[in-house]
Amino acid sequence: MKALVLAGGSGTRLRPFSHSMPKQLIPLANKPILEYVLEDVGRMGVTEVAMIVGRWAADIVRVIGDGARFGLRISYIEQDQPLGLAHCVRLARPILGDDDFVMYLGDNVLPDGAADVAAEFRARRPAAHIVVQKVADPHRFGIVEVAANGAVERLVEKPAQPRSDLAVVGVYFFTAAIHRAVASIAPSDRGELEITDAIQWLLANGAAVEASRYEGYWRDIGHTEDVLACNGRLLGALRPDIAGEVDDASSVVGDVVVEHGARVVRSRIEGPAIVGAHTLIEDSHVGPNTAIGRACTLYATDLAESIVQDGSSISSVRGLRSSVIGRSAAIKSIDHGSPYHRLAISDHVSVELAG
Ligand code: TTP
Repeated sequence: MKALVLAGGSGTRLRPFSHSMPKQLIPLANKPILEYVLEDVGRMGVTEVAMIVGRWAADIVRVIGDGARFGLRISYIEQDQPLGLAHCVRLARPILGDDDFVMYLGDNVLPDGAADVAAEFRARRPAAHIVVQKVADPHRFGIVEVAANGAVERLVEKPAQPRSDLAVVGVYFFTAAIHRAVASIAPSDRGELEITDAIQWLLANGAAVEASRYEGYWRDIGHTEDVLACNGRLLGALRPDIAGEVDDASSVVGDVVVEHGARVVRSRIEGPAIVGAHTLIEDSHVGPNTAIGRACTLYATDLAESIVQDGSSISSVRGLRSSVIGRSAAIKSIDHGSPYHRLAISDHVSVELAG
């Protein structure tokens, strides 16, 4: 079995971050989303990967490379425009050949992994084997209607009036039968070649389509709140490790990672939390559920349930909660007796000020 990993797309729901980086490289517990995806693909016993990349191709190649450190061989395929998930399958045909493959969306995180479903697929090899999970807000997802006997009856992309609450998880298993399906469908109303339409085509043409219920944690990283929720979840799975320096005037509570070269001075770190390499935390309170990237500085700051990406600094800011800070950003509280806030922020940024 091969893998097709989708790391193109436009990421509009994740603005402003997607203005400066591909969403698949956003760090969760200080590790890019795409690395969790590739680790899961590796656990399925796959070695050959085709990866779809869009306008951030160079950034993705720089971070992920040839895949050797994941035990994978990755070939990159450039997609000029995000024309849909089924379009990605069309582009990858020369690399996939007639092999079975797993298609893994590069913004989906399943910390418990999908290797069990891969084994089910390998045992029976239906034309398509999808993974589904019950969700509270089905209109946001591709939805599957399943008959009483468990047979897949219909797939609908983001229905306005959902007739089921089973969402399609972003991990799909296909035999080469999918290639005729993706070649046969036309673009949807939103102008994309939808994978749900291709699977629907298989159903209409009598091919076997199976579904497995996934009970583990799954998050499709579409919005900032998904980033924060998944970050908290992944931090909870970290093994505590203090490689950096924590002075005697500081306290570290719960599962905390302090990476090599980081320094914690007169501060309290509450786990789960991670402090990246060469970061300085001074007179501050950090965590729980917080990831601070590499080479950051925090002075006299109180921050929880948040992510601070590499190279950023925060000085004298209290009460930061549920925040995502990009790379090399600077936030400080000024003490000139001024009653005003001063902001220099870029497009599509969202700021919520208290008081
Ligand atoms: P989506 O989250 O459906 O699309 P998007 O990334 O464009 O995001 P938004 O809706 O916020 O604009 O994409 C799922 C995954 O598939 C994601 O990793 C991007 C990738 N993708 C491609 O590689 N090519 C495509 O044509 C599309 C639509 C998505």
